[in-house]
Amino acid sequence: MTTLLLTGATGLVGSRLLPRLADAGFACRALVRRDVALPDGVTALRGDLDDPDSLPSAVAGVDAVVHLAALFRTDDEDAIWRANLDGTRHLVDAVTAHAPDARVVMASTGNVYDATAAWPSRETDTCSPTLAYPASKLAAEGVLRDSGLTWSILRLPFVYGDGDGHLASMPRLAPRFGLHPAHTYSVAHHRDVAAIVRLALTGAADGRIVNLTDDAPVTVWEMAELAGEPVEPSAAPLEHPWAGRMDGSLARELGFRPTVPTIRAAAAEGIL
Ligand SMILES: NC(=O)c1ccc[n+]([C@@H]2O[C@H](COP(=O)([O-])OP(=O)(O)OC[C@H]3O[C@@H](n4cnc5c(N)ncnc54)[C@H](OP(=O)(O)O)[C@@H]3O)[C@@H](O)[C@H]2O)c1
Repeated sequence: MTTLLLTGATGLVGSRLLPRLADAGFACRALVRRDVALPDGVTALRGDLDDPDSLPSAVAGVDAVVHLAALFRTDDEDAIWRANLDGTRHLVDAVTAHAPDARVVMASTGNVYDATAAWPSRETDTCSPTLAYPASKLAAEGVLRDSGLTWSILRLPFVYGDGDGHLASMPRLAPRFGLHPAHTYSVAHHRDVAAIVRLALTGAADGRIVNLTDDAPVTVWEMAELAGEPVEPSAAPLEHPWAGRMDGSLARELGFRPTVPTIRAAAAEGIL
């Protein structure tokens, strides 16, 4: 049985990934900073990426690490860099010292890609993010890539589903970030985050950066409609038509098939 450590297990993505990994037969440890209810059979390991001394006991003996923990829902840029870059460095150092044969699967973000892209962004595209969140995630990717460990990096799109409230937040996010209603996001359901993480845990994505997308990008307009709260219409031209869009062909070449192909399929299945 593969023993894995999940960081970020209490987050929007991790709390939905953890039960799926446990159900799939992985012996799961979860790095947690506080008392929290975890699925049956999961071992809680107290630790904080800010505290390197808390990490050796969490990683010792694991076959794999799935690294989701990150900070981005804040304006505190120093804290974002500390959690995302320094935190990843601390984790990578601990794995290197105490579980050097472990496979490390790290979640990154499609936000690393340039908004001015001329096509749906590919893993090989040059990225030069300036905002703290994507810049710190790209730097953290570099730490893992240069570590000498066995790694893969999954660039996640807008993740939704299982009643997580993310889609429902779109009508509020759209005016806050000045999103045109025709702005189009690549998206994926939590079930397919689990699917691609499981694929990466087989080694199929070793040494690669891989975009995750479902089969049908979706507009802010449609997301807001699905959330039951339409956004303001606009006939103005869309400034950057490819911003938010990722090319998902590499994942498919590696064997990934979305189990929730479109957001409308999720709506029909009652798993939004
Ligand atoms: N959600 C999306 O649509 C989306 C899209 C693209 C990429 N991603 C990526 O997916 C990952 C998870 O995102 P999310 O939406 O689940 O984020 P989230 O809801 O904000 O959760 C963040 C998680 O990281 C943990 N964490 C933060 N700082 C930590 C530290 N210093 N030490 C240990 N744990 C720490 C948090 O623990 P506490 O509960 O203790 O705070 C929480 O479990 C991130 O890497 C993100 O970049 C997400």
